[in-house]
Amino acid sequence: MIKVEHLVKKFGLRTAVNDVSFRVEKGTVLGFLGPNGAGKTTTIRMIAGYLPPTSGAVEVNGIDVVADPVAAQKQIGYMPENTPLYDEMTVEAFLNFLAEIRGFAGADRRRQADAIIDKCMLSSVRHQPIETLSKGYRRRTCLAQTLIHDPAVLLLDEPTEGLDPNQKQVVREMIERMAQNKIIVLSTHVLEEVEAICSRVMIISEGRLQVDSRPGDLKKRAGGYNTLTIEVVAPAAEALQAFAEIPDVAEVVSLSSGSEKQVLRLVPKDRQSLAVRAIEVASARRWLVTELRSDPGRLDDVFRQITITDDVGRKTA
Ligand SMILES: Nc1ncnc2c1ncn2[C@@H]1O[C@H](COP(=O)(O)OP(=O)(O)O)[C@@H](O)[C@H]1O
Ligand SMILES: [Mg+2]
Repeated sequence: MIKVEHLVKKFGLRTAVNDVSFRVEKGTVLGFLGPNGAGKTTTIRMIAGYLPPTSGAVEVNGIDVVADPVAAQKQIGYMPENTPLYDEMTVEAFLNFLAEIRGFAGADRRRQADAIIDKCMLSSVRHQPIETLSKGYRRRTCLAQTLIHDPAVLLLDEPTEGLDPNQKQVVREMIERMAQNKIIVLSTHVLEEVEAICSRVMIISEGRLQVDSRPGDLKKRAGGYNTLTIEVVAPAAEALQAFAEIPDVAEVVSLSSGSEKQVLRLVPKDRQSLAVRAIEVASARRWLVTELRSDPGRLDDVFRQITITDDVGRKTA
């Protein structure tokens, strides 16, 4: 388990991480989502034991990271934004070297390195010097390095940044495969990544934890969530009035109005679903509904609502 309590990091006068607290259980893929400069990297570095906090506490599997970073790091695989690699070494030599650093010797060391090469699908490049690898293989070598001691906690800072869509997909699949028995914390500013692989998302903005949610629940916070667009064959004025009388409807807007067909937008009062009531209203009057669409909510709308500040620095939502 990861336990973070009232974590603060100040660089001079700037507060990069501002009173962040949370807990994460095994089996979780947690995504830190936030714009550049939000404090994601700083938070991850403190959990990894590479940056001492200004104040607050971090515990990984019961070990106090601040007091005993070396013991904590045995539980942790950390992939920084720019992983240092030994470019002139081959993939195989590099991973054997790291296995040795992590305390494996002889046949054990080779077995460990081979297992990781397998797991990270690096067999085809194992004899290649790291400097000759494509970006995707290079990233997988970085990931392999974090896995060599089979840590319970993986901290991955922007693991798919700069990769093409296919390479991204491979790395995401690897993360998903490893997720069951570990805690994985990754940072990203890519919303689709959160939707694709995270079971929990925290939106961080200006060093603060703004939201802690499941990705699916987050969409419900989108401004237009459950707004209903209905296309109905009905007289314009009557349709406007009938749908406006639904108790959960806050507002009806006419999007287009013909002599037969009306396209209306029904805005719910409190994000309730309106579809069933709207169909009841139409069928009671024998109006033909030709199209019905409920807004599923969009993560990027939520992200913008939460992280964009206006010109005078106020939150827009
Ligand atoms: N070593 C440092 N010295 C001074 N300021 C830093 C340092 N590291 C990060 N910062 C500042 O802290 C804030 C958060 O940065 P960071 O954690 O890298 O954000 P993110 O990873 O979300 O983009 C930024 O304003 C950044 O400039
Ligand atoms: Mg960062």
